[in-house]
Amino acid sequence: MTRKGDDDSPAASLVSPLCSMHEADPTYMGLEKETSTFGSPGENELARLKNVLLHELPDAVIYADNGGLIRFWNRGAARIFGFSAAQAVGQSLDIIIPEQLRQRHWEGYHRMMSTGHSRHEAHELLAVPAVDRSGRTLSIQFTVAPVADENDSLIGIVAILRDVTATFEEIKRLRAGRS
Ligand code: HEM
Repeated sequence: MTRKGDDDSPAASLVSPLCSMHEADPTYMGLEKETSTFGSPGENELARLKNVLLHELPDAVIYADNGGLIRFWNRGAARIFGFSAAQAVGQSLDIIIPEQLRQRHWEGYHRMMSTGHSRHEAHELLAVPAVDRSGRTLSIQFTVAPVADENDSLIGIVAILRDVTATFEEIKRLRAGRS
């Protein structure tokens, strides 16, 4: 994750205000222990909800296996990164990670694959620069969660990513105006 002053890339100084908000908010912390519920869980409705969550949201949903190869790439991911699902599935996550961040990413990735745990508190947002198909740098915020099979063995990691490039540019512009 980027921390203030970590490097010169666009998102490097962006630490999401949500990170500190989550850590400080007791309601959020309490909610962590609860499981999700659904008013009257009809199978049909749940299947539709799953379909919308995976395929229709504008955010990127990316799932990679225990070797870090992309296994699922939704429409949001295609929109944000410019690779179609056919181009991305089977490739390493490296296709969207700037070279200078790959080592840190893979250390974190393999740590979570072997422990099942994040080293971040309260599922705080990670904020990083990413690259799209054309080589353009984007500012991304994302959360991750491990995925296990029926025997509780970890089989991969899913991430939901949002393109916050416009917000980040706006913050930079406002900061520059103040100084
Ligand atoms: C968009 C491009 C991405 C970049 C630039 C990136 C970069 C990074 C960096 C710098 C870290 C280290 C964070 C730290 O040390 O605190 C990290 C951790 C991690 N990344 Fe990535 N990553 C990207 C996408 C993904 C995706 C798509 C996944 C999963 C499908 C993923 C899974 C992880 C995991 C599991 C960690 C460890 C997080 C933790 O311990 O809480 N990353 N990544």
